[in-house]
Amino acid sequence: MQSEAPPPDAYRAPVGTHDVLPPESARWEALVAAFAARARRFGYGLVMTPAYEHVEVFQRVGEGTDVVRKEMYEFEDKGGRRLALRPEGTAPVVRAYIQHRPTPPWKVWYLSPHFRHEKAQKGRYRQHHQLGAEVLGVDDPALDVEVISLAQGFLSSLGLSRFRLAINSLGDGQCRPGYLEALRAYLRAHESELCADSRARYETNPLRVLDCKDPGCVAVTERAPQLLEHLCADCKSHFEAVQAGLDAIGVAHEIAPRLVRGLDYYTRTTFEFASEALDSAQNALGGGGRYDRLAEEMGGPPSPGIGFGIGIERVLIACDAEAVLPAPAPHLDAFVVDAVGPTGVGGDPLGAAGVEVTALLAELRETGLSADRAYGGRSVRAQTKVADRSGARYVVLVGRAEMERGAVAVRDMDSGEQVEVPRNRVVAWLHEHCNPSLRDTTHRELGR
Ligand code: HAM
Repeated sequence: MQSEAPPPDAYRAPVGTHDVLPPESARWEALVAAFAARARRFGYGLVMTPAYEHVEVFQRVGEGTDVVRKEMYEFEDKGGRRLALRPEGTAPVVRAYIQHRPTPPWKVWYLSPHFRHEKAQKGRYRQHHQLGAEVLGVDDPALDVEVISLAQGFLSSLGLSRFRLAINSLGDGQCRPGYLEALRAYLRAHESELCADSRARYETNPLRVLDCKDPGCVAVTERAPQLLEHLCADCKSHFEAVQAGLDAIGVAHEIAPRLVRGLDYYTRTTFEFASEALDSAQNALGGGGRYDRLAEEMGGPPSPGIGFGIGIERVLIACDAEAVLPAPAPHLDAFVVDAVGPTGVGGDPLGAAGVEVTALLAELRETGLSADRAYGGRSVRAQTKVADRSGARYVVLVGRAEMERGAVAVRDMDSGEQVEVPRNRVVAWLHEHCNPSLRDTTHRELGR
């Protein structure tokens, strides 16, 4: 029996996903390192949760949202359990909090892929990556300020300046039901002007209508009752404290009364960072808010929470648009060349120079320098070409005459100058000239 030919795209990354290759991947490294360093300075530890969870974990995200209703990758495993690829990062972190009961406040950050079956286009992918942070166990408005400034300062540290921070309060179990009733009544009176989707869900989830991009819905909701006018005293003072805190640390923000976000678990403070350098359909760089009831709704103890997610792909597109965070040029401290050539000395299959290249390279790398070589028995000329392309600061030539004198030749690739250095001094010589401690921190500590 003949097996069927694979479809023509079988060996391409699936629609809506992408490979990240060098040198572009160096920007990812820089971005993640900057976020990790900043999160550490704010007292957050790394959390890692599985790429898939039982579907129930995402139900409270919730049922009325596109993310869960239409876009979630659900499947049944071989044991018959319903699972879902993580569409967002908050519910899994709350699940882990409930499962492990760490001492609150639990402050964590993450980097993870997220899966949503969206209509793939630039800036909107079926697998995207988020840098996020979550804090569980405290409802202090000072924490809202901390979380927002963690995200805001990270974006600024990349060099981004054309983005705005919008904040809103969605109230709580006290004040939101009354508001939802008022909103429902208003939408009922304007039902004929709403799109089909909003007509179908305004009774069960009227807040989603405020998030609808349909022009008819936008026109109707512009005149809709606003949640900020319905906040109870506690929510009002919480929101005022958040604004005062942001003012105190100089984080510019604007109040956006219609900002409801695309997930159902939010209470009180919500926020979003929108880039002015991007198309309005994909300009959300990140967002988040409080979810004070989520842990309880997932069967855990009452534990307020707040966090955010920042889309890495979006941030990189914004960096391109603002011409910041370019891919760093490839860098090596040293490139070691077998200057005797592929056949080596004395019929030894590796050749004495080849062995010396291997030994020297290992010493350089193990003592903290970045170093490389060519492989595959290339000619001296071919090796030198690879060295040129590598961006190495120095090329170390292991030649026959130098070896006989117990030395190697070192060429400065900027000036073209060449000097002879004793073999037993060359590692120290390169350390002195390359100053690797300074180089290493350039990208890793981008966020200071
Ligand atoms: P979200 O707004 O759905 O929130 O996603 C956060 C960010 O991820 C968005 O602002 C956007 O930058 C990026 N993003 C979302 N979907 C896509 C996509 N299809 N393609 C590319 N980028 C995308 C959350 O996921 C919440 N868990 C955030 C949060 C954490 N709230 C509280 N804690």
